Amino acid sequence: MILPVYVYGSPVLRKIAADIPEDYPGLDELIETLFETMYHSDGIGLAAPQVGKPIRIFVVDASSLEEDDESLKGFKKVFINPRIISYEGEISTYNEGCLSIPDIREDVERESAIIIRYCDREFNYREEYYEGLAARIIQHEYDHLEGRLFTDLISPLKKRLLKRKLTLISKGMIDVKYRIKHI
Ligand code: NI
Repeated sequence: MILPVYVYGSPVLRKIAADIPEDYPGLDELIETLFETMYHSDGIGLAAPQVGKPIRIFVVDASSLEEDDESLKGFKKVFINPRIISYEGEISTYNEGCLSIPDIREDVERESAIIIRYCDREFNYREEYYEGLAARIIQHEYDHLEGRLFTDLISPLKKRLLKRKLTLISKGMIDVKYRIKHI
């Protein structure tokens, strides 16, 4: 099933998402829905709040970026109840976009490596180290669970310059090829 993507201005994108239990109803279907919605909108990551569910789960599939970063080969995963327990490495800058903020891309500074604890889709507990683009994608999606968007991480000046465009997005006044929801 493909769901509409909630865009900038939707309150659900600002909530701290809640952990889910292993027997969360419809978990497998939800995971498939997240992947399908992500692929349909050409994204490389999607968090549950972006489809209106304030729960701690996100999916990524950045295997299409393998040419940019070899470590992304086969990087398709589900992160349930994640906690980033350590931010490491140096600060790096990368031009980010977000399905909830269509048509806007900005350079965002982030730590270059992380350690994350999470459950996989079988609810096996994992603790893993990521660096490079994988670490960036995870941090971006993780932020969605903390009610944070990449536009929160840019300079106030840049944010002012985007204000009008963000207001239009929040009113749904934007041409996007996937379904959006603007509440
Ligand atoms: Ni995003």
